[in-house]
Amino acid sequence: MQREHQKNKGTRKKRRQQKAGPAHQTSNAPRRNAQSFGGRAGYRRHLTPQRTKRPKFQRTKILTNQSMLPAIQNRKSVFPQFFTDKPVDKEVISKLLEAANMAPSHKKTEPWRFQVYTGAGRAKLSQTIREVYEAARAPEVRDPKVAPKFAKKVDQAPVVITVFLHRDPDESVPEWEEVAAVACAVENLWVSLDQYNLGGYWSSPGFLCGDYGQWPGTKPNERCLGVFYLGHYEMPDLPRPRGNWEDKVSWITD
Ligand SMILES: Cc1cc2nc3c(=O)[nH]c(=O)nc-3n(C[C@H](O)[C@H](O)[C@H](O)COP(=O)(O)O)c2cc1C
Repeated sequence: MQREHQKNKGTRKKRRQQKAGPAHQTSNAPRRNAQSFGGRAGYRRHLTPQRTKRPKFQRTKILTNQSMLPAIQNRKSVFPQFFTDKPVDKEVISKLLEAANMAPSHKKTEPWRFQVYTGAGRAKLSQTIREVYEAARAPEVRDPKVAPKFAKKVDQAPVVITVFLHRDPDESVPEWEEVAAVACAVENLWVSLDQYNLGGYWSSPGFLCGDYGQWPGTKPNERCLGVFYLGHYEMPDLPRPRGNWEDKVSWITD
């Protein structure tokens, strides 16, 4: 029995050496036996691929050639008179909306909703804007130039996205947090435009950003927060002055 065991031990050793063979025999280093690895345990460790300690949860980081900072710096308001006729691919619009959808929201209410108007669909939007304006303003205070002004902008923009707040039906968070979350979503979309050589801007006329349920066809817990126009564009670089950021920040260090 003892001999049998010794015999198997020898076979196993040979097999291990055969298995590990090529990797160890490629160098001119003298052949090493198990003892020179500090005994069998050391030799086994030597054969086992080196394991490095990994954190339990690995962070998935999407690396792109363009870091966030240039995208933020390149974001700007591009107004409809600067849009070209070049159409915007539906896939690109989808990517922009996917970026919007990655916005944060308290209790994950995801309160952003969008309607996308392109092509002939834009005439419907102009009509809806007229209706909303007329519902919001009594006939005696209406400005006859307003509806045509918006119809012209809508016509100049290849894509118009209406932005809605979809209030959490349980009102689990204050309204301001949901408005802020929608703004985060719009900013995501806005900073993503430059990657596709697109420009756009958020327009929020008072009569459009009215009460819940005011926009035709929306739910009672939904209100419009404006219109986002976007398209390819040709525009001179306009100044985008900002006050000093340091004037808006207080540092409390002790
Ligand atoms: C919530 C929100 C609403 C806006 N509404 C309007 C608007 O109704 N009309 C307009 O001309 N610009 C509007 N803007 C765009 C701002 O005028 C513009 O961001 C600002 O002038 C700074 O210019 P920039 O975007 O090129 O940096 C809005 C921006 C935000 C964030």
